[in-house]
Order: sequence, then C-alpha cells, then structure tokens
Amino acid sequence: MVRVSAEVLNSSRPPYTPGQSREAVAARFGLAIEDVAKLGSAENPFGPSPKAAAAVDAARSRIDNYPDWSSRALREAIGAKYGFDPDCVVCGSGETEVISLVLRAYSRPGDRILMFAPCFPVYHIFTEQEGRVPLFVPLASATDFDFDRYLEALRAERPAIAFVTNPHSPTGRLPSEADIRRVAEAAAGTDTLVVLDEAYIHFTETPGHMALTRDYPHLIVLRTFSKAFGLAGLRLGFGVAANAGLVTPLRNIKPTWNLGWMQTAGGIAALDDDAHVARTVAMVVEMRAYTAQALAGLNRFRMVDGSRSNFFLVEILDPELTSTTVFERLLEKGVIVKDCSIDFVGLGDRFLRVDVGVKKDMDRFIGALRGLDRNW
Ligand SMILES: Cc1ncc(COP(=O)(O)O)c(C=O)c1O
Repeated sequence: MVRVSAEVLNSSRPPYTPGQSREAVAARFGLAIEDVAKLGSAENPFGPSPKAAAAVDAARSRIDNYPDWSSRALREAIGAKYGFDPDCVVCGSGETEVISLVLRAYSRPGDRILMFAPCFPVYHIFTEQEGRVPLFVPLASATDFDFDRYLEALRAERPAIAFVTNPHSPTGRLPSEADIRRVAEAAAGTDTLVVLDEAYIHFTETPGHMALTRDYPHLIVLRTFSKAFGLAGLRLGFGVAANAGLVTPLRNIKPTWNLGWMQTAGGIAALDDDAHVARTVAMVVEMRAYTAQALAGLNRFRMVDGSRSNFFLVEILDPELTSTTVFERLLEKGVIVKDCSIDFVGLGDRFLRVDVGVKKDMDRFIGALRGLDRNW
C-alpha cells in the first residue's frame, strides 16, 4: 500500500488560499471583466515586461529539448546584475519553490522556524506541511515590528530558520538595516539560517540588502520575478548568498529540471528591462500617495500608513463589521482585495490587504469604500 509521509499526513492546515480571479468575480456578480479591479494578489497591473514576453515567445522553438537543469544562463544574468558569482545563485519555479528548498535543506522535522505573525502564509504552510514547527512573533501593532521580541525568541528557541520580510507583507513596512543586522548577528555562530525575503523590494525604492550576505555567511536573500517584473504566471524566483556553500545544497536538492527554456529566457530578458520596472514603481509610488489622500477622513475605515510596498492594510474601525463582511461587499462592487482573517495569521478580522494599482482600479476601490463608509 502506498503511504503518505508522516509529515504530510499530520499537516492540519489547508493549502494556500489564492486570490480570486477577475473572471470568477465578473461571472458571480454579472459584471464586465474590465469593471473588476483585481487588488488582491500584488501583481503588476502593467503586465509582463515586454522584453520578457518577446523572449518567452522566441524560446518556444527550444521546448522540444530539455533545458539546462541548473538554469546556468539565468544564474549568470542574476549574478551579473547584482554582483555575485553564478554559483551563489539558485533559481526556482517562483520564489515559493526556493522557500521550500530552503526549508528542506536547512531544517529537519520537529525543528522550529521563526517568523513574524502576520507574514507571507507560505512560510508557515510549508513549515507545517514538512513537519516543522512555526514559531510566531506577533507584531507590536499593525504597523510596527517588535524586533526585540523577535531577537528574544531567536536566542531562546534557536530556530533552524528565521524569516524576515523586507518590505514586510502584509503591512508593507520596511525593517531597518540595523534590525536586519541585529537578527543576522544574533544568529551568527549558531545553527540558524537567516532568510531575508525581498519579493517586493523594488517598490521601496531602496536597493535591498543582498550586500549584507557578504557580512553574514548564514544569510540568504530571496527575490521573485512575480511582482515588479510582472511575471507571476511564468513562475520564477531566486536566492542569492555571498557564501556559495549555502546555495549549492539548494541546487542539489531541487527538482532537476525545475525551470524550462521559456522561464529562463523570460527572466533573463526581464532583468534587462529596467524601464518596465521603473515605470511600474513610479506608478505604485504615485498611486499609493493618491489613495492615502483619497481615503483620509473615513469613519468606518482607515488606511494604515507606512507601507513601502505595492499594497497596504485597511483597518476596519466599525466594530459591527468584519474583514469578511467588508471583503464580500467590495466583491459585489467589483473590487477584489485580501481578507486578512483568511489569508494572514495574527491580524484577526479587522484588516484587509489592498494592492496599489492603476488609477482606474484605485478609483473603483476608493469609490466602493467611500460608499460603504457612508451607507453600509
Ligand atoms: C512576501 C512574499 N514572498 C514571496 C512570494 C512568492 O512569490 P512567487 O512564488 O510568485 O515568486 C510572495 C508572493 O506573493 C510574497 O508575498
């Protein structure tokens, strides 16, 4: 008889709850697809990098042959862009795959994995699916980290892996370099691997902290092509560490041909398309400020300030309402957001996460929320 491994069998959490599609919401509420604002998955509303899309098309002619199993050409392009040797880079089918490789390579069943609550749910979903134990450190508030408490837990519990997200999801807050260094220093000389997830780094208009991997041999930085590069459907992400010894095991345990020709070609071209990233980031920065201004002075809701990412939290101030009731009312009006009571641990039912998108979509969201503020 075939048997599911004990870790998988004992996993009690449901798998990831994805954001809803435009098509499903349009069909459910009788709306035109173009009248649905998709503000729940933090994708790029400008679509893929045009250079990447052309490169994916061109790579079609190669798909009868197996790709290079280690994605060498993409690793070279990433290395050249960010100043690392290709041996210091591992590529995955989305950053999510790299997270799973890190968990498998650097922890064993029963090990503790440290993270803030709330955080990107994949950290704890994979942790539990693989029989590891998530250790949550609550944020001090919906906007502030509590790095003192995080460091206490790191020192006391000696987790196998410590995740930090820069900028954090779902708050969009940017941890300081000093706090990231404190984490890396507290883990130095121990068995803890520090993982810095920089999926949304472009939107902060800072270069991020790949360079810190040169100071800390137990630090790895992860990034994705799903956000600023606009390639969420292509599935591409990577990890970088100055210490190649940290990365080699990840390449060795990955599913052998985890990336195809079209993926690697798209990634290489996207890295060369700074104009697309710059245009996207400029729009997000402008629309984030526009939305903050438009939502000032609501009674039932409050846009939580301080996000440096392409999403922000909305707090529900009216105790009669929950994130799920507001989420459903927004859906009826053709606005898809994230209900934090479903998607994130530790935020209860008081918050929504909303993407920063193009003006048409933000106006639809602003109009819908203002309407609910006046007349529930
Ligand atoms: C914080 C964070 N990290 C990583 C990812 C994974 O991205 P992907 O697997 O699409 O590369 C996401 C996706 O939403 C995210 O929010």
